[in-house]
Amino acid sequence: MTRPTFAMLGAMMLCGTAFAATQGIVPVNWTAEQDHQNMMQQLGITKLRQGPSGNAKPGDPNAANYDESKANPFPNLPDLMTLKSGAKVTTVAQWEQRKAEIKEDFDREVLGRIPKNVPKVSWKVVGVDHEVINRLPVTATQLIGHVDNSAAPFIKVDIKMTMVLPANAKAPVPVLMMFGGSAYPNPAQPRADFEKINAAMKAAMVKADPSLAQVFKDYPGWQPFTPPNPFAAAPRQVNADGDPPNQEQLIADGWGFVSIDPTSVQADNGAGLTKGIIGLTNKGQARKPDDWGALKAWAWGASRGLDYLKTVKDVDSSHVGIEGVSRYGKAALITAAYDERFYMVLVGSSGEGGAKLHRRNWGEAVETLTATGEYHWMAGNFLKYGTSESKFGAMTPGDLPVDAHELIALCAPRLTLISYGVPEKGDANWLDHQGSYMATVAAQPAWRLYGAKTIGVSDNYHTERMPAVNTALMDGQLAWRQHDGGHTDAPNMKYFIAWADRNMGRKAPVQTAAN
Ligand code: GCU
Repeated sequence: MTRPTFAMLGAMMLCGTAFAATQGIVPVNWTAEQDHQNMMQQLGITKLRQGPSGNAKPGDPNAANYDESKANPFPNLPDLMTLKSGAKVTTVAQWEQRKAEIKEDFDREVLGRIPKNVPKVSWKVVGVDHEVINRLPVTATQLIGHVDNSAAPFIKVDIKMTMVLPANAKAPVPVLMMFGGSAYPNPAQPRADFEKINAAMKAAMVKADPSLAQVFKDYPGWQPFTPPNPFAAAPRQVNADGDPPNQEQLIADGWGFVSIDPTSVQADNGAGLTKGIIGLTNKGQARKPDDWGALKAWAWGASRGLDYLKTVKDVDSSHVGIEGVSRYGKAALITAAYDERFYMVLVGSSGEGGAKLHRRNWGEAVETLTATGEYHWMAGNFLKYGTSESKFGAMTPGDLPVDAHELIALCAPRLTLISYGVPEKGDANWLDHQGSYMATVAAQPAWRLYGAKTIGVSDNYHTERMPAVNTALMDGQLAWRQHDGGHTDAPNMKYFIAWADRNMGRKAPVQTAAN
């Protein structure tokens, strides 16, 4: 082997892995299977139970249960209102103590802890676009939240977020932060500059193929780009259920919205656990059993987004909400549960790991997450509850010290809407609507403690059954509504907005359309 030249060394220094090597750090680069296996080893687990699969057919050995008589193998939930000391919680001060206990259990066993050394995020505006959303003018700001990576420069985390505010608001506006892709919602098109763009385009095309000069001479009226007609009505994008997109509904009511890209914080897979924000705090090494999982990392990202919103004078930062659907519905619930600066939360079709009770045997189960694919959402310790053989024996979801009703209760007394659709339209049975309703029922005492209102039914989660589809239990600050659409929360958005406006004592402003 020849010795590396200076040029080669220079090139290696530029590359992150080489930097890590010089620091004596070799970043781990495993597949999800290898990472999962490593966590099993750390915990002394030799065998996990196979979980129900969403793809199994009825009768398959790994088919999910959809028989209500078998759905409650662990019928009794941990008592929300009893401290570990055995004392009953009757005051808000005691509830603060109880909340700390609940969070500690979720941190250690279910979601993982945010480490103490998470580096600082500095937000930077990368672009401002003046756009129109269904005829209303908005200002869209693209932002990057750069995470200081000086401790491990081979891992880069740049949080992507887009903030969209009504352009003509007379006062700071409430804002709903939504988990999803971060992009300009309706990029403005150049108008007056089209002649210049087309001339340059034609010149470039002729340069690439000189014979085009004749074509352009023969068809002088043809232009590569046609300017949009500013007077044409924008095509209305309604979803399958006939509802306008959430963004449009929010702007129409005079709110702003933010889209934040969770995968720019942490990848949605196990192989990514030594990268992203989790990997950065571990300097590229594998997680320990109580380190945070992706859901907690996404929630952390949303909190950093809120830090930024708190600096924007056009945002009414005491009325910022968080929203998400499906895996992002889980993340939205966790965000609100842990960060009390969020005034409201819309938890869309969140299922297992979200509003659904872990103790339920219906559709997706604890074992579905622990055995495969999506274990990275949770703390490593969560694997214990799907274990059949290990140094500590077997454990079940019934051994979990906490359950979903307690995660919901952490949001009290703030506005919390648990939202679902219906299986016939694609909001799968898999999500366990009834199990999520039971968790909502069992969370009610926390709201009452503050004098806030609940969904207005008894606390008996053993006997309470979901109300009919499209029944809004939204008279209080804890709320439930199962709409008649699919795997989305758009059909519930108008109810959410009206409910939040009512609670904020706000009237939607009359707005002037853009021209
Ligand atoms: C799968 C998974 C759910 C999740 C959903 C989604 O169905 O089992 O837990 O909520 O994907 O995020 O789309």
